[in-house]
Amino acid sequence: MTSLDHAAGALPAGAVTADSAALPVPPFRGTSLPDIDYASHPAYGGTFQPSTARERLQALVTFLRSFAFVTFRRIVDYDNMPLLSKEVGGGRLTPAIAARYMVIFPRLRIGRILRSLLGQRRAAVPANRALCDRLFSDGIACLRLSEEEIEAVRRVTAPGFAKLDRRRMEISLEKRKFDDNVYWCTRSADPQAFEAIERIFRRHGITDAASAYLGRPVGVKHINPQINEENYAFWKRLFADTKVPDPWTSYLHVDATYGMLKGAIYIHDIGPDNGPFCYVRASHRAKVGGFEGLIRRTNDFCGFSGRRPEARRKFMALPRVLRKKADFGGDVLDSSPDATCLKEGHLAVTSDYGNCVVFDGKGIHRGGMVNKGERRCVFIVLAEI
Ligand SMILES: [Fe+2]
Repeated sequence: MTSLDHAAGALPAGAVTADSAALPVPPFRGTSLPDIDYASHPAYGGTFQPSTARERLQALVTFLRSFAFVTFRRIVDYDNMPLLSKEVGGGRLTPAIAARYMVIFPRLRIGRILRSLLGQRRAAVPANRALCDRLFSDGIACLRLSEEEIEAVRRVTAPGFAKLDRRRMEISLEKRKFDDNVYWCTRSADPQAFEAIERIFRRHGITDAASAYLGRPVGVKHINPQINEENYAFWKRLFADTKVPDPWTSYLHVDATYGMLKGAIYIHDIGPDNGPFCYVRASHRAKVGGFEGLIRRTNDFCGFSGRRPEARRKFMALPRVLRKKADFGGDVLDSSPDATCLKEGHLAVTSDYGNCVVFDGKGIHRGGMVNKGERRCVFIVLAEI
């Protein structure tokens, strides 16, 4: 966790923040996330008959169940709690892990409330003020780590990438899911990865800038080596059952998480065809009400954001006011004003802009859409730990 009382001061030598003022895109002009009229969308209202009363009721029940769960997670600040299932090496929530959660969550919450009351739970004062300002204004900042730092990241994440390679070889491409391309470093199994990345992030003032941005103490919570390759085309043929083409905005989304910043470190050069991380500059400032945010996350959580016919049919069975997604990019029609706005502020962060990005997932982004070869990237989550 970041020190709570770091004094503002000069950054260590070698800390360089790329000047994102020079980014060749203007800030996002939109004031909200796209509000798509699904009734007139050719792959939704244009494809399906109106839902029956029974379909509408079933969809609403499924939605409300998930909505309750997503709201509960929000209330307990789940995204800033330890992810025990990953720490013990599995991905599933077992009864034993659930029992540990029930002990740890209240203890953590009470501890945080007490420290807040005692004035001990403060955001850091950022030494790298320029980085912090950039995050506030653009929602993204690009940095250039030194070659030695990138080499260190390569070295400490090599065991994770090796495990990922072995796992991916055992699963055929058709059966591979998103999580099969991601390795979860844990503090018990990969302490060297946490030590190295925490050191680099401290050196560049990234951790403290994230803490100041989020207004709470922050540390490196997750480290995820990730591999994407050209055959893994999750953003293509979205509406395979129709003649509706993939839109330019495919896979643009906002994250379903709350209260965290993310980072990505490129461990090799990434050009336009290697799936660079992309961000719509300043889109983190788009107004999304609390209720709207929960609706968008709920649809992603319960699978209604999917684009297979069954998922789209269920989504269309919802009342119009609930037809909103966090993963909305695939539904924005190229001819719409929303598409123009998104295109204007869209920046593909190739290696020309740096080898490390820090961003607020509340802003509109995408990445890993590889046209040629593969992309090896290390994702980092900065949250209260
Ligand atoms: Fe994301």
